[in-house]
Amino acid sequence: MSTLLQVMDVTKIYRNQPKPSLDHVSFEVAQGEFLGIMGASGSGKTTLLNVLSTIDVPTSGHIIMGKNHIEKFGQEQSADFRKNNLGFIFQEYFLLDSLTVRENIAVPLTLLHKSVQEIDRNVKELAELFGITSQLKKYPSELSGGQRQRVAAARAMVKGPSLIFADEPTGALDSSSATELLAALTKVNHTLGTTILMVTHDPYAASYTDRILYFKDGHIISELQRHHTERRNFYETIMQESARQNEKR
Ligand SMILES: Nc1ncnc2c1ncn2[C@@H]1O[C@H](COP(=O)(O)OP(=O)(O)OP(=O)(O)O)[C@@H](O)[C@H]1O
Ligand SMILES: [Mg+2]
Repeated sequence: MSTLLQVMDVTKIYRNQPKPSLDHVSFEVAQGEFLGIMGASGSGKTTLLNVLSTIDVPTSGHIIMGKNHIEKFGQEQSADFRKNNLGFIFQEYFLLDSLTVRENIAVPLTLLHKSVQEIDRNVKELAELFGITSQLKKYPSELSGGQRQRVAAARAMVKGPSLIFADEPTGALDSSSATELLAALTKVNHTLGTTILMVTHDPYAASYTDRILYFKDGHIISELQRHHTERRNFYETIMQESARQNEKR
């Protein structure tokens, strides 16, 4: 598999913070990979997503995506890059209450003045992948939390981004809604080949990924590979690794 993202020796030091939030972090993400990021509160997970997604700039180090050295981008270039290549899913759904589900998913394409046909095609495909086809005419207030999050995920995918950043996407969901979202993300990852970076505290959510990087104090302290093990077995491995790290704390 080819490499989509190369993170080389990235450090982020916020002003007025005694310690770096990211401390010489290096790793690679393969094209089409579903990568999990775990670690205690304050370990640097969101900081990592922010610097990788050009929302923030690293203090030092290199971030290469495709042929782009994204840490060298100016503000305008960063905004364009995000608009054209990246998708975001957060713990809160950030849907627009006055728009229907269909319109919410279509927002990124509407802003690009895409044709009605193209918008229809993309919305339909993603609504099917996320199991929300029957909700397209409804408004967000008429949906469950799990359905809203799947609408938000479909919106994040609608422009066909090469990389999706998800920060605790199941954080506000009950377990069956979380399962539906994770199953849908896995399906998108497999069928469209979208690369996903997902931050999570939850070993169950993490068990859907291909590989997990554990962060502590801005460092990567360990890594788990799923290989071809079943999700249930991977879940056991993650539980053991998380317990091992809690003991060390
Ligand atoms: N904008 C900022 N300004 C100053 N310090 C920050 C900023 N954002 C994060 N930090 C600090 O960087 C460290 C890492 O924070 P970060 O938000 O990346 O942690 P996290 O792993 O995402 O935690 P959580 O699981 O609670 O979301 C913390 O010590 C935090 O206080
Ligand atoms: Mg965070």
